[in-house]
Amino acid sequence: MKTEFTAAFSGKRAVVTGGLGFIGSNIVHYLVEAGAEVVIIDSLDPRSGGDIRNIQGIEDRIELVSADIVNFDPVATIVERAAYVFHCAAHTSHPYSMRDPQRDIEVNCIGTVNVLEAIRRFRPKAKLVYVGTSTQIGQMQTRPVTESHPVAPVDIYSANKSVAEHYCRIYANAYDLGVNVVRLPNVYGPYANISNPDFGFINYFIGRALRNETLTIYGNGLQLRSILYAGDAVTALALAAQTDRTGQIWFAAGAQSISVKELAEAIVEACGTGRVVQVEWPEARKKIDVGDIVIDSSKIRAELGWGPAVSLSEGLRSTVEFFRR
Ligand SMILES: NC(=O)c1ccc[n+]([C@@H]2O[C@H](COP(=O)([O-])OP(=O)(O)OC[C@H]3O[C@@H](n4cnc5c(N)ncnc54)[C@H](O)[C@@H]3O)[C@@H](O)[C@H]2O)c1
Repeated sequence: MKTEFTAAFSGKRAVVTGGLGFIGSNIVHYLVEAGAEVVIIDSLDPRSGGDIRNIQGIEDRIELVSADIVNFDPVATIVERAAYVFHCAAHTSHPYSMRDPQRDIEVNCIGTVNVLEAIRRFRPKAKLVYVGTSTQIGQMQTRPVTESHPVAPVDIYSANKSVAEHYCRIYANAYDLGVNVVRLPNVYGPYANISNPDFGFINYFIGRALRNETLTIYGNGLQLRSILYAGDAVTALALAAQTDRTGQIWFAAGAQSISVKELAEAIVEACGTGRVVQVEWPEARKKIDVGDIVIDSSKIRAELGWGPAVSLSEGLRSTVEFFRR
């Protein structure tokens, strides 16, 4: 871990909403190591990728508040003394969002407004980083995708994430709050849920390969994806928390895009088990698939000095080692 990233967090109170989830717990581990006073707010929603085991070994160095961010009061209480807020709590499954769109709006939109309102009213000096998603752009219209690419989400989750991102921008501008957004692509790494296809296909593929099961690719598998190792996502979020810029949106993605098929094959190779199979697209999934995604992260590189440090083979190796342990 580079000390220049972490010194800012030492002794500071950092709130991580959704800190028991995949991205949130990666940030939590980073912040604990950086000497921050870490507070998690998480409802351990059974429809999410959250898991109490994600904080195993560091639980005595964290304050854990079990509460739903859809309720304003616990959010306000927890944000009151925060120097940093990493807003990771979300309804994160694309298929769930189609099955239960009202709940998706509650968590992703009202939950985000609650965090923003709490900061505006009680802690306007806190820095907030919102974890956005590349899927909100929908199908790629110009290649590569930059922050100015049009937004046309194809599923309810991505639509609500996009709305929540607008709330962040509006609060930053209207109230001069230190709010920024980092949009992530498909992220893989330790602490992910690797047994449910709803929480990211890369992590699910890793789980299937580790169990020596088949990895099913829809269609020819040539659709390109931008991907990112969790550790690199954390450094992007940490940098976004420390900047004096506000109201910014940055993409943070790995250096190269890769086809779903190549990625599945790389996972099988890293695990030494599993097998790739190809099937026709299921109709329901095809309708909410975004096709190729190729993301350009030059804005965050130029403005925050961020770049991915972990190659695909290194990232897969450490992820596989983590889950084997
Ligand atoms: N994983 C990815 O590849 C990826 C990519 C782009 C963006 N993101 C974004 O990163 C953030 C974190 O995603 P993740 O992959 O860690 O998801 P996750 O499902 O693993 O974690 C979400 C966490 O939020 C908690 N949560 C859900 N609803 C809650 C509520 N109402 N109140 C309190 N806590 C609640 C869950 O219990 C869980 O611990 C999300 O905003 C997601 O949109 C993730």
